[in-house]
Amino acid sequence: MGRVLIGNDHGAVELKQRIVRHLEKRGFTVVNRGVNSDDAVDYPDIAQDVCEEFLAARHAEEDSFDFAILACGTGIGVSISANKIHGIRCALPQNIFSARMAREHNDVNVLAFGGRVEYAEPVEAMLDAYIDSRPEGGRHANRVRKIMELEE
Ligand code: RB5
Repeated sequence: MGRVLIGNDHGAVELKQRIVRHLEKRGFTVVNRGVNSDDAVDYPDIAQDVCEEFLAARHAEEDSFDFAILACGTGIGVSISANKIHGIRCALPQNIFSARMAREHNDVNVLAFGGRVEYAEPVEAMLDAYIDSRPEGGRHANRVRKIMELEE
């Protein structure tokens, strides 16, 4: 089965634990680079560490990750930070529909969630929607290519 890299700040410790449990139940190996206590850390550092490890593993083609997950209080700080890193496309889905679209249309490689957010639909269901869908390609692949050209 697949491998997932996850990182979180102090605002999302419980959510991270929930996500890890869910992914392991689905058969994924999860590598945890997040914090496990309420001691304050800076979310850009977590986002940078996770994204750089994700990209390095992809380039090495050994022990690469299927995707990565970042979590902070809102998910906003980690998603902004992740999207500054070349090669990362990070989505901050708010429901099952946008989690599926994040894969089918945007082909994101990182998902962000907020540990202090009251989602109307469970994060586990959003994760399942992402995991169980595939990039649609075609015109969407062309748009994703254009997104990546914005990094040039
Ligand atoms: C930390 O207090 C909080 O700012 C952080 O977890 C996140 O919500 C930032 O976007």
